[in-house]
Amino acid sequence: MTEKPLLQVKNLKKYFPSGKGTLKAIDDVSFTIYEGETLGLVGESGCGKSTLGKVLLKLEEPTGGEIHFQDINITNMNPQEMKKIRRQMQIIFQDPYASLNPRMTISDIIAEPLEIHKVAFGNEKMARIDELLNIVGLSRSTKSRFPHELSGGQRQRVGIARSLSLNPRFLVCDEPISALDVSVQAQIINLLKKLQKDIGLTYLFIAHDLGVVKYLSSRVAVMYLGKIVELASSNDLYSSPMHPYTQALLSAIPIPDPHLEKSRKKVILQGEMPSPITPPKGCVFCTRCPSARKECFEVRPIFKEVAPQHFAACHLYNLP
Ligand SMILES: Nc1ncnc2c1ncn2[C@@H]1O[C@H](COP(=O)(O)OP(=O)(O)OP(=O)(O)O)[C@@H](O)[C@H]1O
Ligand SMILES: [Mg+2]
Repeated sequence: MTEKPLLQVKNLKKYFPSGKGTLKAIDDVSFTIYEGETLGLVGESGCGKSTLGKVLLKLEEPTGGEIHFQDINITNMNPQEMKKIRRQMQIIFQDPYASLNPRMTISDIIAEPLEIHKVAFGNEKMARIDELLNIVGLSRSTKSRFPHELSGGQRQRVGIARSLSLNPRFLVCDEPISALDVSVQAQIINLLKKLQKDIGLTYLFIAHDLGVVKYLSSRVAVMYLGKIVELASSNDLYSSPMHPYTQALLSAIPIPDPHLEKSRKKVILQGEMPSPITPPKGCVFCTRCPSARKECFEVRPIFKEVAPQHFAACHLYNLP
């Protein structure tokens, strides 16, 4: 990882109109992703992770705020202007089966971005497909096959080959292993790690729980109800979590040692995440927070640096 920002996000918002009001899927989020790093993004179902990934790539239009990619403000770029930048920003989805066209051969699936962007034809295109299959560890015989003829892990490798076809610099990995068998998950994680080392890719790696991202991420962002509530280096986040929500998420990860597991304090979260149409007035987490005080119900805490390079939005850290 370098100190050079690849992607900078300022006060980003994504609201969806809804019958009962406005659904705030992303509500005023700011962070930076540095070149060559993996930023893990975790949080419960519905907290806005996929929406954030899609808005960063402008697959969804932001409602407010700014996105800068390599110092270029892409916030208001139209699809035509985005085309050139799109080559550098790609996404891998959770369900490789749903994201691959069942009627296309693997060769055609991987070739499609090359054709759309008019970057390789004929023999050059075929050579590039072979190269991509090799990079993701699939044999050449895979080319003439169809998605339903492959295993889940092989399909995810095809998805990765396709997203690498245009030589991107930034990949959003949206729960790329959660649909796979445990034995295959490690293979895909190792492949993503190897690609990062070999090609210098930068990742936003989305997952439900902190266990999955630990092995992969240099830094981790924790999201709750459309907001990032904590962001720190993996070491700091796992060893000294600051936000009560992160503490609860961490206490839910089992420890392999039965003695430690028995003796440690678990925080069980009560209730469910509120609706993003009617979020709490104060801190988004106040309705479930074991440490909530009066001001937590009234005032939105600011997301700020509470220790060196450790950011959190929590009133507990406003004390003098
Ligand atoms: N196109 C859309 N129109 C309306 N609401 C949407 C749309 N996409 C997402 N939402 C809503 O935005 C919120 C965030 O959804 P999102 O898919 O980003 O969550 P997530 O964190 O990725 O969840 P999961 O872990 O289940 O994948 C949810 O309340 C969802 O219902
Ligand atoms: Mg999602």
